[in-house]
Formats: sequence, structure tokens, C-alpha cells
Amino acid sequence: GEIRCAGDTIVIGLAADSGCGKSTFMRRLTSVFGGAAEPPKGGNPDSNTLISDTTTVICLDDYHSLDRTGRKVEGVTALDPRANNFDLMYEQVKALKDGIAVDKPIYNHVSGLLDPPELIKPPKILVIEGLHPMYDERVRDLLDFSIYLDISNDVKFAWKIQRDMAERGHSLESIKASIEARKPDFDAYIDPQKQYADAVIEVLPTQLIPDDNEGKVLRVKLIMKEGVKYFNPVYLFDEGSTISWIPCGRKLTCSFPGIKFSYGPDTYYGQEVSVLEMDGQFDKLDELIYVESHLSNISTKFYGEITQQMLKHADFPGSNNGTGLFQTIVGLKIRDLFEQITASKASATLEATKA
Ligand code: ADP
Ligand code: G6P
Repeated sequence: GEIRCAGDTIVIGLAADSGCGKSTFMRRLTSVFGGAAEPPKGGNPDSNTLISDTTTVICLDDYHSLDRTGRKVEGVTALDPRANNFDLMYEQVKALKDGIAVDKPIYNHVSGLLDPPELIKPPKILVIEGLHPMYDERVRDLLDFSIYLDISNDVKFAWKIQRDMAERGHSLESIKASIEARKPDFDAYIDPQKQYADAVIEVLPTQLIPDDNEGKVLRVKLIMKEGVKYFNPVYLFDEGSTISWIPCGRKLTCSFPGIKFSYGPDTYYGQEVSVLEMDGQFDKLDELIYVESHLSNISTKFYGEITQQMLKHADFPGSNNGTGLFQTIVGLKIRDLFEQITASKASATLEATKA
């Protein structure tokens, strides 16, 4: 009989509010997949797309149905589903997954207008990143794996201040006001998506310094759903046990306030999960190998791969703490997932050929 070769594209969803580290995460992810992703050559210089040999990252802002003026006129924010075209998002992600190229619109972040579309060809790995990858049920069902970056308000505030005040000259008051203005729609439309995520990276203020409000030292949790096909959660020492580990001492240099890891089973929105947590930060990044050697199910291809990745991108934000560590681990898990799915499709095709 006829062998219909469905597209081999796997689709990953990455949800987060803007300014919460999605582009940093994408750079770590594409590096694990074997090459930095670049904007499309010769296209619109304001394209939001990134392309590497294996991976295409598209930004879901491109599915805004209302441009900046339209949102103002209608009185809706970019977070509001009414400002976004989920029918087109679904159609195009589905087409790409089926191996069909699409003409995707471009939302121009500079002008606030919708630019003429760009051609997107089906990649091996398609990442859809933005505010709503898990909002629409049809799009959600196309995802082979989903991640939610959950940045707590205090930390979001500290990051925004750092970026918008230091780099963009905004005032403290205007930053506070813009976070407050987004909050109702954020709570209504963005935050609820985390219940659907296969992995959540939650970023909180440290508990190692009493009443810390600087937001510099972070407590980061990697929440991993149990029972997801092709995804085996990472564990520390003993799978399923509850562990608390302070690695500081002879083998790991820790200055104040130190480092604390925790691991164990938990529930999250009524579902069974494993949670790995790191509070504090590394003094010497190459000593991360000591921590790495105590983690299992990390899907590395050689001893020390996590440490190597972290050292390679030591200049990215979060490289000395759990944000960088867990983003790197999620990247390795996705590479593993991709390889398992590809292998299972290949053997299914072989079976079909025999029949
Ligand atoms: P997005 O793509 O979601 O807008 P970026 O990756 O560009 O976010 O990050 C936005 C800003 O947030 C960075 O310039 C940096 O100031 C801050 N930031 C992001 N990730 C981290 C992190 N892990 N630790 C500290 N600051 C971070
Ligand atoms: C993009 C971002 C949103 C941001 C918006 C700016 O869509 O993803 O997070 O709010 O641009 O919208 P504005 O209406 O202020 O131009």
C-alpha cells in the first residue's frame, strides 16, 4: 500500500510573559541542539523568527490580529485573546507539523504594525514561543512538549527594573504602572497555561537570606510532570525520595548565602510531578560538574555536558543559578525527546514497509 510520510516536525511550546527570559532560554536550547539560531537571511530585518539547521523558533506575537493602534482603539492588551488570531495560529502550526510550508505574518515590534508575511518551511524542531502557546486547545494538542517559565512578581519586577530602567531609561513609577496594568490579563489568560505544561521553571526570591527583596539570589524550581511519553524526569540521588542537599564544603565553593538543592515528588494542579529545586548561586561555574555528577536522567551524551554548556554561555543571564541550569537541562530533555520520537517513527515506517 501507499506509505504516507507525515511531517517529521516535532512542536515545542514555550510560554512566558515578555521580558521573562524566553530569548535567553531559546539561545540555550538551540545551542544544545547543535547550533545557534539566526534571523532568516535576506528577509525582513524586523522578523521575529530564528532559524538553525534543525530548529525554527517562531514568536507568537506574529499572530496578533490587532496591531498597536488597533489594540489602543479596542482597548485590549496584547495578552487578550481578542488581539490574537488563534485560527491562523492553529492552521499554520498544523501545516508545519504536517510538513507544509506557510506564509506566516510578521508583527513588527518596532512599528507596531503587521508586516507582509514570510515563508516558513517545516523544520525538524519547531518552537512556538510567546504569550499563548497553550491557550487554544487545538494548538495545545499539536504540542509534543510544553514549557512554562513562571517568574514570580518580585523577580519579574527586579528584572524589569534592571532592563527598562538601566538600559531604556524608564522611571521606577512607569515600570510599576506597566506591570500593574498587565496583571489582570496576565492572570486571566497567560498564567493558567502553566497547568498544561510538561515542565515548569518557577523562579522565586531566595529563602536563604531572610526578608531578601533584592531579587539577585534566586530559588528556582524545575517542576516535571510524571507520565509524559518520552520524558523521564531528572532526579537527585534516589528517584521518588525526598532529598535535601547542601553541596557546599570540600568540593564546592560557596560564599554567602550558600547553595541548597531539594528534590522530591509533589502535586501540581492535581497532577503528579517531580520537583528539583536549587536555591542560591555558584561561585565557580566549573565546579558545577560536582552537582551534575549527582543528578540522574539528565539525557547528556557525555559526562559533563551540562557543565560544558553552562560554561560555553557563562555570559548569558542566569548562568550562575538554577535558571540557567534548569533551562540547560530542559534543552537536553527536549533533544532526547526529539531523538526518541524520530526513532519510533523510523521503526514504524520500517514496519509499514515490511507489511
Ligand atoms: P524575553 O525574550 O522573554 O523578552 P529575555 O531573554 O530577552 O526575555 O530577557 C529579558 C531580560 O530579563 C534580560 O535582559 C535580563 O535582564 C533579564 N533576565 C532574563 N533571564 C534572566 C535570568 N535568568 N537571570 C537574571 N536576569 C534575567
Ligand atoms: C508584544 C509583546 C507584549 C507587549 C506588546 C506591546 O506583543 O509580546 O508583551 O505588551 O508587544 O504592546 P503595545 O500595545 O504596548 O504596543
